[in-house]
Amino acid sequence: MTRRRRKDGGTKTSSFGSPGRIGHDSSSFYASRLYEGQAKAKKVQYVENKIPAEFLDKIICSSSENMKELPDNSIHIMVTSPPYNVGKDYDDDLTLSEYLAFLKSVWKETLRVLVPGGRACINVANLGRKPYIPLASFIVDDMLDLGFLMRGELIWDKNTSASPSTAWGTWLSPRNAILRDIHEYILVFCKDTFTRENPQKRESTITKEEFLEYTKSVWQFSAVRAKKIGHPAPFPKELPYRCIQLYTFKDEIVLDPFIGSGQAAIAAIESGRHFVGYDIDEEYVRHANERISASAGQELFPLSKSRY
Ligand SMILES: C[S@@+](CC[C@H](N)C(=O)[O-])C[C@H]1O[C@@H](n2cnc3c(N)ncnc32)[C@H](O)[C@@H]1O
Repeated sequence: MTRRRRKDGGTKTSSFGSPGRIGHDSSSFYASRLYEGQAKAKKVQYVENKIPAEFLDKIICSSSENMKELPDNSIHIMVTSPPYNVGKDYDDDLTLSEYLAFLKSVWKETLRVLVPGGRACINVANLGRKPYIPLASFIVDDMLDLGFLMRGELIWDKNTSASPSTAWGTWLSPRNAILRDIHEYILVFCKDTFTRENPQKRESTITKEEFLEYTKSVWQFSAVRAKKIGHPAPFPKELPYRCIQLYTFKDEIVLDPFIGSGQAAIAAIESGRHFVGYDIDEEYVRHANERISASAGQELFPLSKSRY
């Protein structure tokens, strides 16, 4: 199915190709039976409640299964990478269904605290090989079950920085050749409506070059070394930075319910946003607070300048 140009100059979904989408009318596509039973956007009023000042720009040392400090409809974006339950210091040894149920309770709280149209961006990798556990797919199922609207799936291509793993199974033999993942996912969802209202007329800070790059579904940037950051599984600041730039306005609030070393908070501050974080580990919270203080006044990326 491709697009053709309408009389009014816009394009329309059709069986044959047309070069681009201009004022595209996709109503027939979305009315097709393929979309029967799919979650639909709701007609909801935009509500935005204030977070008590004592919790704004703070990391709360408790489990994000219950984010009681945060009012409903108070967060503009959640961006996180969850604990993987694979034996890191902070991981419990849960069964897959116990683990997914734990994560789902955090996603449910996220749904409650996001403003209408607010985004949830989950960075996750699949696990194991024998067999491969498609964790990203299981999380998608749970998010859809909770009523989130899925917006897309980013592939984070870590090729340049991926460790040169030689766990390729049987060398030069099809007997048991094994894939070496050099990617992770960032799963993107939103609450209730596809479009974010902006009644306060807050500023968008994304540059033209960033917008052109970040709206592509494959992102390429390096991972960061755990030792350098002082946490077993940090993501690079660039990951939350891109999500924040793409999906929020200046001065809005970023939540990371598994904040670890504080990378999401630093990306939030350095791009002119606020943050709230949760972590159960006192030592990580102390370390993240130190890193956040040390980063004060630094710009993550010069917003005004092109990086390309
Ligand atoms: C993959 S790490 C996140 C790393 C983070 N993105 C960063 O860049 O440093 C997961 C974090 O979740 C925390 N955690 C585990 N269970 C938690 C829970 N129930 N509530 C809040 N945090 C939790 C762990 O202590 C760990 O720091």
